[in-house]
Amino acid sequence: MSRLQHFGWFLARGFGPHGWGHPYLDWDWRWTTPELYRQSARELERAGFDFLLIEDAPSLGSADTIDLRVRHAFGGPKHDPLLLAPYLFQATQHLGVIPTVNPAGTLPYTAARQFATLQHLSDHRLGLNVVTDTGSARHFGDAPPLGHDAAYDRAEEWLGALRALWRSWQDGALVADPVSGVYADGRRLDAVRHRGEYYAFDGPLNALPFERGEPVIASPGGSGRGLAFAGANSDIQLALAPLTEASVRDYRARIHRAAAERGRAASDVRILFAIQPVLVASAEEADRIVAASGHPDDAALREIARRQSSDLETDLTTLDLEAPLPAGIFGEHVSQGSIRRLVGDRDVASAPLRAHLTALSTLGRISDRSGFVGTADEFADLIEELGEWGNDGVLLWGDLHPVTVHRMLDELVPILRRRGILRREFVPGGLHANLRAF
Ligand SMILES: Cc1cc2nc3c(=O)[nH]c(=O)nc-3n(C[C@H](O)[C@H](O)[C@H](O)COP(=O)(O)O)c2cc1C
Repeated sequence: MSRLQHFGWFLARGFGPHGWGHPYLDWDWRWTTPELYRQSARELERAGFDFLLIEDAPSLGSADTIDLRVRHAFGGPKHDPLLLAPYLFQATQHLGVIPTVNPAGTLPYTAARQFATLQHLSDHRLGLNVVTDTGSARHFGDAPPLGHDAAYDRAEEWLGALRALWRSWQDGALVADPVSGVYADGRRLDAVRHRGEYYAFDGPLNALPFERGEPVIASPGGSGRGLAFAGANSDIQLALAPLTEASVRDYRARIHRAAAERGRAASDVRILFAIQPVLVASAEEADRIVAASGHPDDAALREIARRQSSDLETDLTTLDLEAPLPAGIFGEHVSQGSIRRLVGDRDVASAPLRAHLTALSTLGRISDRSGFVGTADEFADLIEELGEWGNDGVLLWGDLHPVTVHRMLDELVPILRRRGILRREFVPGGLHANLRAF
């Protein structure tokens, strides 16, 4: 039986030149100005999406690999998505907007005040995607970067501090009584003396309390520590895991256990699996694309190498396709997850680079669950099946041009609506209210 699912759109390459290299740039959208995003946000709202989430990293990465990131605009430049959010709120009425923030970059008091301002300006539609990457530490001071788990500890302290500030106006502190002329009762404001491991500051916050809830917190970390963070703090978890029944149920159970350990209910965290489907007009077309993907030509392999070079901060573009990866080619700062994605379960000492890149090029069919190429109907089957396993929703992953939004959604939206999987209307009250509406 179908049940309603939540839908988000993930602008996966951030507020940057995300169409670079694609012909649809010739629609003359300018990524630095807001209309491209405003138009896309309106389409997502019309489609019934809960939110748009914007990836971010405050840095171009490690100093010696910057060129790899910017040469093809793969890892930068990136403008600050927090400052894009007001334009998107103004263009829409219901859509949530969730910029990515890294606690490393903003002190709690400033963050709490800015986010409170945006939460009021948007009528309670702000979310924050809290990430803990430490690769940008050098931009914010000369202390060495924190370790993986310590960065999560700092994020928890930061978020706790934000919440203490947002709650520093007790009930009754805001009076706003034109008859008596009293605006607020200063005796009902908490001083919030925070002395923690990473931050020390005093409150109270110089911004009004919220009538309909604090900004929504989203998180993407998939490690044990990341899932614990989500269980303890998040309203939305962005999940990346194999889409088998066992894996989906296991992922959800781990978050729910973590939530229960912190006294929260399982239903407090909406879990959305991130998927980037390739939707085509017919099953035959999908079969043709999948068959061709297993036999990429050298130009296609070089393109994959280029993209991987940015993610891995390691130049693969000049390597011999027929030779194994040179020993020690990846520096210590390179993410183990990204290396695993490249080499899979092949023997690194003997498998040629061509084998790794060909494996990345090879696509699978939605219909047999070997991949994500298929028709809108086949994709709707997959979303419906995820829902039957108890799942809350799906995060569609891509860049954000009206062209890509339409390519993905034109057929899909009516199919999902007919099946009762996609909302037809929003409830009043902002992002929290819509996440909790079902
Ligand atoms: C859907 C999704 C979105 C993400 N968005 C960001 C992002 O915007 N910025 C960032 O620095 N990391 C982002 N990440 C990476 C995670 O924040 C995190 O660094 C990564 O999952 C490793 O953390 P872990 O060790 O807890 O899994 C994202 C990951 C996923 C799966």
